[in-house]
Amino acid sequence: MSEQTLRVGIVGAGWIARKAQLPYFADRRGIRLVGIVDPLPDTDVVARDWGTTTYASLEALIPDVDVVCVCTPGPTHAELIRICLLAQKHVICEKPLAMTSGEVAELMGLARRNGVGMFCCMTNRYRADVQYMAQRIREGSIGAPRMLTFSWLRSRGVPARPGPLSQGVLWDLGSHLADLALWMTEWDPTESAVTAQATRLRPAGAPLVASWYGSACVDVTPPAYDTVLLTAQGTDGTLCRIEASWDSGLPHDMCRLLVVGEAGALMLQTVFGWSPHRQTVETPALSMSHDGGPWTPSYVPQDRQHTEYSAQFDHLIGAVRGNTTWITDMEPTRKSIHLLERAEGILEQGRPI
Ligand SMILES: NC(=O)c1ccc[n+]([C@@H]2O[C@H](COP(=O)([O-])OP(=O)(O)OC[C@H]3O[C@@H](n4cnc5c(N)ncnc54)[C@H](O)[C@@H]3O)[C@@H](O)[C@H]2O)c1
Repeated sequence: MSEQTLRVGIVGAGWIARKAQLPYFADRRGIRLVGIVDPLPDTDVVARDWGTTTYASLEALIPDVDVVCVCTPGPTHAELIRICLLAQKHVICEKPLAMTSGEVAELMGLARRNGVGMFCCMTNRYRADVQYMAQRIREGSIGAPRMLTFSWLRSRGVPARPGPLSQGVLWDLGSHLADLALWMTEWDPTESAVTAQATRLRPAGAPLVASWYGSACVDVTPPAYDTVLLTAQGTDGTLCRIEASWDSGLPHDMCRLLVVGEAGALMLQTVFGWSPHRQTVETPALSMSHDGGPWTPSYVPQDRQHTEYSAQFDHLIGAVRGNTTWITDMEPTRKSIHLLERAEGILEQGRPI
């Protein structure tokens, strides 16, 4: 498959597809964007804008493509991926890959048996600052990681997406943080003790503002909670704390990844995603401390806005073409989904608000 043109189809032409997948796949040498499937009435217009066409269903699209990009809401992913894998089509799916680790394991088996690739868009792995930090950890700069504190606090950024398929903040932002915790370190939460708590930081009745989407939330029912805290302890005693908020009211969106190791610590302060604050916050800053010594700033290359999305698709398309392995890459994804589904179970049993 390495030399031939890859035929790609997109299922779900909503917010992320219009920002990331459509611009990438409509404009890449060696790739033909064959069509889009989405029941929304403006899908024809979107298809025309990107020089492609619409299909009535995934089943109609499948015979014409080699790769399907799934960009629908999380709860629909597992079933759509299953259809693609059974038809022996490669799949590149938005996060979360599925809502249970059992589904991920089943889909990994299906991909293996059908000889096709299955990939999840864990986009933040492709950020230069995150990769730089991961490299420092893997080369042993701070010794074995013992405590991970990963947080993503949006100033005002509740997705303007009402309805039963909308995912909460745990799955929206927490899935990135949980994946990074597993991918950057050897931490294994499979048998870990988990706690999860959630709340709403804004006063009841305050208007919702989806600044992340650049628009006010007009008809959106406020989510049951906009902020979540998850803690877990791996079998080797390593602690992990994940904090995520859609609506913190802080002056700007902020992400902080802190890893304390046996011989030092690394801290990255940055801004992820499509945040309107990404270009205004001065710089991603990685600091390192050795054995209780002072924080020392470390050079971190600054990404141009959203460079990580093209880096991600370049890598995943490379994997489809057979240049990288893919099954092992799914293990952090499966384990992070296992962690999130347990946290979700705890939240469902007793939401504090
Ligand atoms: N990697 C990232 O940085 C990133 C950023 C934003 C969203 N996402 C993920 O992308 C996914 C979509 O998010 P979004 O913000 O674009 O949502 P969205 O609601 O804007 O778009 C989803 C689209 O899917 C369509 N759809 C739903 N069910 C379908 C089906 N069965 N077949 C065909 N089309 C269907 C809807 O009509 C809608 O147009 C989510 O899983 C989200 O977590 C990832």
